[in-house]
Amino acid sequence: MTSNEKIVLALPKGRILKEVMPLVRAAGIEPEPAFEDKDARQLRFTTNRPELDIIRVRSFDVATFVAFGAAHLGVAGNDVLMEFDYPEIYAPLDLNVGHCRLSVAEPKDLAGEDDPRTWSSVRVATKYPLLTRKHFAARGVQAECIKLNGAMELAPTLGLCRRIVDLVSTGATLEANGLVEIETICQITSRLCVNRAAWKTRADEIGDWVQRFREATDAVAA
Ligand code: PRP
Repeated sequence: MTSNEKIVLALPKGRILKEVMPLVRAAGIEPEPAFEDKDARQLRFTTNRPELDIIRVRSFDVATFVAFGAAHLGVAGNDVLMEFDYPEIYAPLDLNVGHCRLSVAEPKDLAGEDDPRTWSSVRVATKYPLLTRKHFAARGVQAECIKLNGAMELAPTLGLCRRIVDLVSTGATLEANGLVEIETICQITSRLCVNRAAWKTRADEIGDWVQRFREATDAVAA
């Protein structure tokens, strides 16, 4: 059965979008021109596919829109999916883009004499308090997390706390702020995610889009 309601695909804004768009296009979706206009204030966009619209939101909000069914499909990193751990989200496809890692970092001068295996507690600044607490709790370390939404790398130099948990891609941001990685928590890639209820009620349409993204991902990898 096909619903009259449009399928909504939530995409993350920022750096990751550049890596995701070739896959979106290879899946047969071309957004209206306003999508590429940096000055446009528009947040929802039509596409060449009359049955599908795109919304552009913060990466953490992709998960929220999909979990609540406000978007049927989305692209989010497994960092975001693990932090929320929404049971309503199913992530059937690794898109193999947005490669980075979630790591613990601290100032260079501290790193030489510090061994994370000896910690019984740790205080970190992070955007990922749940994931961080879970990671450390697994080996009996209590993590106190100070929630920041960006620019975590400032925390050690300004005395907020000595350590951070943040995404690392090239390592340039850590380097520029005198920090080094001392532990990797997990590797990250972007995933195609789906609202579970929509997957059931609109199985043909959603299944078709998942298949298109699968083929697009396979074609890039080949
Ligand atoms: C991310 C992350 C780091 C940086 C790491 O921030 O939070 O700050 O990228 O990348 P690098 O290892 O290549 O330097 P982003 O620029 O995505 O913005 P944000 O601070 O808003 O998360």
